[in-house]
Amino acid sequence: MLCVVRDRFSGVGGWQYDRVVNSRVLGPPAAWLAWGMDWREVHRMMVSGASCAVGEIVVDIACGGGTSYAQAASEVRGLLIGFDLSPVMLGYAVRRRAACGLEGRVALVRAEAGHLPLPDATATRALLFNALHVIRDHGRVLREARRVVRPGGSLLGVTICADAPLPWRLNVRRLTRSGLFTPPGADELARLGREAGFRCWRQRRSGAALYFEGEA
Ligand SMILES: C[S@@+](CC[C@H](N)C(=O)[O-])C[C@H]1O[C@@H](n2cnc3c(N)ncnc32)[C@H](O)[C@@H]1O
Repeated sequence: MLCVVRDRFSGVGGWQYDRVVNSRVLGPPAAWLAWGMDWREVHRMMVSGASCAVGEIVVDIACGGGTSYAQAASEVRGLLIGFDLSPVMLGYAVRRRAACGLEGRVALVRAEAGHLPLPDATATRALLFNALHVIRDHGRVLREARRVVRPGGSLLGVTICADAPLPWRLNVRRLTRSGLFTPPGADELARLGREAGFRCWRQRRSGAALYFEGEA
């Protein structure tokens, strides 16, 4: 499965993304200008999502360079398992884990978001930040997130959506046409989240960004 999905984050685009989102100075204005996204809200969600007590497991699907646990470093007391397809992004994640002193509490694994190498009902929470819009099969990923989260657990994330308002719609259309983005529509995301088995599905919008939460 791993070999048939192209790694679009291995080049300068992935490096640039990782630099910008992990910069307190560049991240907020870049996210607002490109997507109308409130980056401070995303960071707040990452902190609450990645925080875990001893004995809890959080799964960060398409973790990229480890943005979520870098925000929440002192609150990661259990185990966070980050999965990503890109060896290059995982390389950034390994370096960030060391910089945060999280070697014993963050495990990083190369895996496809729709096929996680984890038993059912392993995690307290799944995170899915800034990833669904670059993955083709949204339903498959949401079902996989639901599978690995135990009953009573939750899913937390943000995605760029297809039906964004202007002016951000122009950026979404450009990247969709280029083949880099395959974003879900807002209604489609809500439907797929519920069909995957998440109860109490909630989502709200800021520009092209949809923040979402579901309970397992
Ligand atoms: C925009 S980055 C987001 C990274 C991180 N979650 C964040 O919020 O900064 C998208 C990530 O999704 C990963 N990715 C794309 N397709 C994937 C797939 N099918 N399975 C797993 N990871 C994937 C990419 O390698 C990249 O690291």
